[in-house]
Amino acid sequence: MIVFKDTGFTYDGESFVLKDLGLSLEKGSFTCILGGNGSGKSTLAKHINALLVPDEGSVSVLGLDTRDEQNTYLIRSNAGMVFQNPDDQLVASLIENDVAFGPENLGIPNPELRQRVTQALAEVGLQGFERHETSALSGGQKQRVAIAGVLAMDPQILILDEASAMLDPRGRKGLARVCAQLNQRGMTIVMITHFMEEAALADRVIVLQAGRAVLDGSPEEVLTQADGLEHLNLDVPFACKLSIELQKRGVPVKTHISEDALKEELCQLFLRA
Ligand SMILES: Nc1ncnc2c1ncn2[C@@H]1O[C@H](COP(=O)(O)OP(=O)(O)O)[C@@H](O)[C@H]1O
Ligand SMILES: [Mg+2]
Repeated sequence: MIVFKDTGFTYDGESFVLKDLGLSLEKGSFTCILGGNGSGKSTLAKHINALLVPDEGSVSVLGLDTRDEQNTYLIRSNAGMVFQNPDDQLVASLIENDVAFGPENLGIPNPELRQRVTQALAEVGLQGFERHETSALSGGQKQRVAIAGVLAMDPQILILDEASAMLDPRGRKGLARVCAQLNQRGMTIVMITHFMEEAALADRVIVLQAGRAVLDGSPEEVLTQADGLEHLNLDVPFACKLSIELQKRGVPVKTHISEDALKEELCQLFLRA
């Protein structure tokens, strides 16, 4: 569904921000992209909806080459993006107008437009918020309105570029829940984040360094590589750190990425002892 083939990209014509990148993201997958500042995450994200096009190699989305301008409209309407700052993304003061903005520009007429708005708001857990003011919302609610605006365009792919970075833990949880639900309903999700608890929700985690994919695997495979992650200046999930400390002291636990799973294993050990 999304294929990067030997992709190279440079902003200044000299230094390559993406280099020899090869990635294939399946339809319906939930991929998390990690990487230090400047590793090329946002640049990669912008290639998925043809905001940027490669200088070398190719990127194809839904089988469409992003360099072909005739494909741009179809690619953009199918790959919706949500960015970091909630306040930068809302365009109207009334929620229903904000969510309607994208599909209206796609030429969707009433009553389908209203129907899409209502449904999109329900999908992000904001049913009945049509007539509320966007300014009165929390950061997490604003990001969910931004997602609703994307969903109302009925895309196949949702890209979140550090969309939870400015949210409190509760807002982050709400956003993560919405993404997991959308993925269960078949949407392809690409989530860029710093938060390991979000990465643990994905079915694939890719770590970028200097525009190349240096780690790629399931969350269990990637997030438990404590040395590798620390070397790349990335956090290691708390459950993983604790598992490793316990192992060092002879406690026979697996290396977990989820606190619940670690808790469960510890309880089993304790009860058996
Ligand atoms: N618009 C731009 N013009 C020139 N250089 C840029 C631009 N955007 C990003 N870069 C550079 O490209 C590199 C990767 O940036 P980016 O993709 O934003 O990384 P990340 O999202 O992982 O922090 C950085 O070195 C950054 O300075
Ligand atoms: Mg970025």
